[in-house]
Amino acid sequence: MPDISEINLKTYSKQVETWKYARLAGLLAAEAAILQRHRESIAGRPILDLGVGGGRTTEALTQISSDYIGADYAPAMVERCRARFPGMRFAVVDARDLSAFADASFALVMFSYNGISSLSHEDRLRALGEMRRVLRPDGICVFSAHNRNSPQTGAWSLKHIPAPQDWLRAPATALKQLLKYPLGIRNALVHRKHARSEADYAIVNDEAGCYGLMSYVITVEKQLAQLRAVGLRPVEAVATDGHVLRPDQYGTTEPWIYYVARRG
Ligand SMILES: C[S@@+](CC[C@H](N)C(=O)[O-])C[C@H]1O[C@@H](n2cnc3c(N)ncnc32)[C@H](O)[C@@H]1O
Repeated sequence: MPDISEINLKTYSKQVETWKYARLAGLLAAEAAILQRHRESIAGRPILDLGVGGGRTTEALTQISSDYIGADYAPAMVERCRARFPGMRFAVVDARDLSAFADASFALVMFSYNGISSLSHEDRLRALGEMRRVLRPDGICVFSAHNRNSPQTGAWSLKHIPAPQDWLRAPATALKQLLKYPLGIRNALVHRKHARSEADYAIVNDEAGCYGLMSYVITVEKQLAQLRAVGLRPVEAVATDGHVLRPDQYGTTEPWIYYVARRG
């Protein structure tokens, strides 16, 4: 049975996905808030932009430091980045094996937009260990992860069928959405055997990529414990609007959460 990383790599390598990600630009509110809060630790210092995708974060991060490398395990994503930002450094690198980089070489290791959710439990622990290894003692590791408390929408949900007002407002988009419905169901049927539910996490079929992705979901409390277990010290858990979650907000149902950690 293929590992979920392989399933997700197939989806991320599709032209439609690389094209979609290469059109994204600008930081999300949580990323902007985090990078602002921690700017002093990273400005002008080496940055690893892991799971760079189509280069959404490249411009913003290279404004913080020109010592930048973007990396992704999907060669097709790296090609998109090279075409989009000629002269900047990109590499095909898997987060599970950062041996291309020396110990303590980066002030910031950022794995944005839930890239880490593409990994199985064992692979996630390996990737977090590698991220810790390549982090400078005073560096920060930033990533977002899917929240297990967030409700999932199944491929069969009638929410995916465009409503009459959608047809009136944007008929082409409504038609595209309707055509994706059977494809989503087909993908969900193919991938459902990989779903699992464990005490500490679950693997779910993700609506993103038209149900072509299997994603790791975890609660805030379990994620913080996981970071400590791999030798990373959590600094903050951050909501999508950029505010630092208080412990009484850890039960949030936001779809994903940003984490900032330092070497423990
Ligand atoms: C949801 S996309 C986000 C892309 C980009 N960071 C952005 O915010 O637009 C996740 C990215 O992580 C990459 N990725 C997933 N698993 C990876 C791994 N093991 N090593 C490196 N990149 C990985 C995927 O190929 C994909 O480009």
